[in-house]
Amino acid sequence: MKYNVLGKSGLLVSELCLGTMTFGNQINEKDSIRMIHQFLDQGGNFIDTADVYVGGESERIVGKAINERRSEVVLATKVRMKVGPHPNDFGYSRRRILEGIDQSLRRLNTDYLDLYQLHVWDNLTPIEEAIRTLDDLISSGKVRYIGCSNFLAWQIMKALSYSDFKRYARFISVQPQYSLVNREMDREVMSLCREENVGVIPWGPLGSGFLTGKYKQGETPTTGRLAKGGGESSWEKYNSNQKNFDILHTVQDIALEIGKAPSQVALNWLIGKEEVTSPIFGATSLSQFEENMGATGWSLTEEHWNRLDEVSKLPEEYPQRFLDKFSRTI
Ligand SMILES: NC(=O)c1ccc[n+]([C@@H]2O[C@H](COP(=O)([O-])OP(=O)(O)OC[C@H]3O[C@@H](n4cnc5c(N)ncnc54)[C@H](OP(=O)(O)O)[C@@H]3O)[C@@H](O)[C@H]2O)c1
Repeated sequence: MKYNVLGKSGLLVSELCLGTMTFGNQINEKDSIRMIHQFLDQGGNFIDTADVYVGGESERIVGKAINERRSEVVLATKVRMKVGPHPNDFGYSRRRILEGIDQSLRRLNTDYLDLYQLHVWDNLTPIEEAIRTLDDLISSGKVRYIGCSNFLAWQIMKALSYSDFKRYARFISVQPQYSLVNREMDREVMSLCREENVGVIPWGPLGSGFLTGKYKQGETPTTGRLAKGGGESSWEKYNSNQKNFDILHTVQDIALEIGKAPSQVALNWLIGKEEVTSPIFGATSLSQFEENMGATGWSLTEEHWNRLDEVSKLPEEYPQRFLDKFSRTI
């Protein structure tokens, strides 16, 4: 397992991060704990959860699993989503964040978090209020580093600029949906992160399982995430676009050529991407977990990596097209 520095920090995280959104729901507690221990035994140190996953069960199970091994783990969770019936039970008010951190720490059975992330931009709370509160959490010792997830580029930049202006802690990481079949972040967020030295830790690196090759074009699935998921995890989203299958077929061809599983090829492409620090993969069984862990310890050839990049890249768009035309080199 390799370790990468997370953004503008001295924090080293494993090149794969274990996502725990399915813990206590699609995977029972015993297997979830076993998965975490296997992950740590194989050199993984980076674990992602959120206060809202399975009504707090995911955090509780993670807390139980790492109880004896806290010092080995870089522990990340999130705040923002609705966690109760009252008007102040969600968002980024100072009140909510200060309450949310204590609830997460209690469930995670620890007195500090390595990475506290804002889950999705909140239209209600001024970002200045959230950043000031997060900075206080760092000063108090409850949080080591901060990051955000599902922000637009201007929102990330606004937060970074405010941190810099006030000399508050700044985000060291961004957690967007990003994979061979979801490359929208290439428009602005990836170049922003490169420019500002912010680590990218993509969620959904397997396109909710689409890139494992277990779904067939034109056949409505009856099992797996895409059979029941909506929105970003809907079968309709993937099945309605031929490009997704062109990408999948390239992944499968390369997997066959090099004797790897499609999921390993898709994850290895992300690991090889300059801006990506650590893809956050999910699994609903130990066998899926083991297969996905096989994405480390080797690299795609340049030719294979480029083939995947080419088939999956976004169409040219203004203003990038215009900027490329006038870009200057020395
Ligand atoms: N910040 C956010 O808003 C956000 C949003 C979503 C997720 N996340 C984080 O990112 C993590 C990963 O996200 P994700 O679950 O969407 O990622 P993903 O890795 O793209 O999809 C994981 C799902 O694909 C299927 N799968 C995985 N490996 C497989 C294999 N080898 N063979 C067959 N099927 C396989 C499993 O679902 P089935 O078995 O059910 O098909 C699994 O739950 C989450 O756990 C969470 O920590 C964050």
